[in-house]
Amino acid sequence: MAVSSSSPLSRTLRIGIVGFGPFGQFLAKTMMKQGHTLTATSRSDHSQLCARLGISFFRGMNEFIEAENDVIMLCTSILSLTEVLESLPLHCLKRPTLFADVLSVKEGPREVLLQVLPEESDVLCTHPMFGPESGRDGWNGLAFMYERVRIRDEATCSSFLHIFESEGCRMLEMSCEEHDKLAARSQFLTHTIGRILSEMEIEPTPIDTKGFQTLIQLKDSTIRDSFDLYSGLFVHNKFAKQELNNLVLAFEKVKQKLEEMNEKSDLSMQPL
Ligand SMILES: NC(=O)c1ccc[n+]([C@@H]2O[C@H](COP(=O)([O-])OP(=O)(O)OC[C@H]3O[C@@H](n4cnc5c(N)ncnc54)[C@H](OP(=O)(O)O)[C@@H]3O)[C@@H](O)[C@H]2O)c1
Repeated sequence: MAVSSSSPLSRTLRIGIVGFGPFGQFLAKTMMKQGHTLTATSRSDHSQLCARLGISFFRGMNEFIEAENDVIMLCTSILSLTEVLESLPLHCLKRPTLFADVLSVKEGPREVLLQVLPEESDVLCTHPMFGPESGRDGWNGLAFMYERVRIRDEATCSSFLHIFESEGCRMLEMSCEEHDKLAARSQFLTHTIGRILSEMEIEPTPIDTKGFQTLIQLKDSTIRDSFDLYSGLFVHNKFAKQELNNLVLAFEKVKQKLEEMNEKSDLSMQPL
């Protein structure tokens, strides 16, 4: 893993966003603020919002691909990546393009991108480790993971990374596999606990401790993300299955310890 702190010579980019959902919109706002030119396409019609943001929205994939973007940024759901990529008329690309994905799992998308994209396209796999909530007040100090999978056009890749670097992100270069291993133990676990708390319907009480308030916040923030996102963290990260098993085992262990204590206390309460 390498931490990059260099400040490359950057230029403004033409960036095409595929998947204009909550996260695509969130990234687009900062990219627009930085002066990049944006286009977008998505399954649903986001043309009105795009018009308000100064982004050209294309319903047709052909027009989108022909817009000659420097970078095509894939912001679609984890579950739909293959389907979405296969629907792009990649043969219409007019020149070598950098494809950068921002999906929250990395090894699977890396394989799919290498399989589906034309050999002349560059590939950058990334995961901004924040979202519309945690990055609401800026990205300073927030982690940005990336792997330069197949990069020949250094200038375009550096300029794209500079978008995040210049906002103060902690730039972490690591392999997609390493990312997935760490994310299964951190992000997937966090979302799973949040989902469990949501199933339990926990709500604030008049006697909340700080710890409980943290749990409420965790529940609220995890259920703000779509279930597609959460299930993608499980289905497309091979390390997540083991972490789910570890969680179940740990829960059973704790429960067993409590039951043992309960039995002991029942015995001590019995009359002599
Ligand atoms: N939210 C975050 O905090 C966060 C942080 C880092 C990375 N990410 C990653 O960013 C990506 C987008 O996340 P998100 O929060 O916006 O929510 P999401 O539910 O993961 O993805 C929503 C996006 O996927 C598109 N989509 C879903 N199903 C589709 C299908 N069958 N065919 C075509 N398009 C489909 C939606 O298109 P329409 O809107 O047009 O329907 C929308 O653009 C995900 O890969 C996620 O892992 C998210």
